[in-house]
Amino acid sequence: MNSKSVLVAGGAGYIGSHTVVELINAGYEVVVVDNLSNSDISSLEGINKITGVKPTFYNVDCCDKGALSEVFKRHDFNSVIHFAAFKAVGESVEQPAKYYRNNLLSFMNVLELMVEYGRRNVVFSSSATVYGDADELPVTEDTPRKPATSPYGNTKQMSEDILRDSVRANSSLRGIALRYFNPIGAHPSALIGELPRGVPNNLVPYITQTAAGIRECLSIFGQDYPTPDGSCLRDYIDIVDLAKAHVAAIDRMVEERGKESYEVFNIGTGRPVSVFELVHVFEEANNLKLNYKVAPRRAGDVPAVWADTTRANEVLGWRAERALVDTLKAAWQWERNVRGIE
Ligand code: UD1
Repeated sequence: MNSKSVLVAGGAGYIGSHTVVELINAGYEVVVVDNLSNSDISSLEGINKITGVKPTFYNVDCCDKGALSEVFKRHDFNSVIHFAAFKAVGESVEQPAKYYRNNLLSFMNVLELMVEYGRRNVVFSSSATVYGDADELPVTEDTPRKPATSPYGNTKQMSEDILRDSVRANSSLRGIALRYFNPIGAHPSALIGELPRGVPNNLVPYITQTAAGIRECLSIFGQDYPTPDGSCLRDYIDIVDLAKAHVAAIDRMVEERGKESYEVFNIGTGRPVSVFELVHVFEEANNLKLNYKVAPRRAGDVPAVWADTTRANEVLGWRAERALVDTLKAAWQWERNVRGIE
């Protein structure tokens, strides 16, 4: 098997496309599968412009095991990064079966094919959502997970468990779950970034679309939380930094470092930032005023969550490097590119 080759499932999406760029920069050959259900083929053009490399692409749904197995037959990658999942919390509450089927089946297909075709290393996209409303802050990887409050969150917990058990059952497999905090921003080239369909659920795309005049006004969900300024605290992680964490995880497994066959890492900055603070840094970074108002709390939001990143720092040798102001400049530059704003 080719240890310098990686299959990226969901590689045309937001986190996937940035990770493909960093893998190529690190000398990996990349095969992308994506069903384009929540991504755009144009991201592959952006990857090509940034790196000079056009990764091999298959329009394949990972739930289609037959189609996915053809990709395994054709390519000798020894590692897989699995991003291919739905991620809208609210939608998952309304359509739970859609989330359980897609997110769990696609990952189980990947794991079964890895065993069948003798592939070793897998990285799973998990989320800080597994910690829920944590009893201790910052959260470490040993902070107990809380029962999930949405089917989306439940698929993250269940997929972590499926990975842990699969690795336990197959000595040929090795797995890392990366628990992302709040990924934001865009590549500094502004050639790839986040392209949400419809009304954004997440804070930063809502901010950039409001600044672009597509949304009238940002609602800040809650000003009465037990936090210094009353708005929620989150750990916003730059998308390029996050992408690099995947390269560090793959490197670790490819080089057979460490003894554990299943590992979990928090991927964040370790710094809590409030919604008000984020809005103000965005305004200052980009020299504009944002239209916003305070609105009631959003159901399901936890008051505060941020990462203890010691394990990722020490074991993966990875740390977040980009300053929030630069991340928010890149986010706005990307939105302007997409909308054709000077
Ligand atoms: C959400 C999900 C999380 C998922 C992540 C993926 C919930 C409860 N959590 O994280 O499981 O992994 O997205 O990207 O939905 N906010 C506003 N106005 C807005 C949008 C957001 O004030 O228009 C606030 C929220 O109340 C929150 C913060 O901004 O305090 C961040 O929100 P968001 O970007 O949606 O991320 P999370 O809710 O932290």
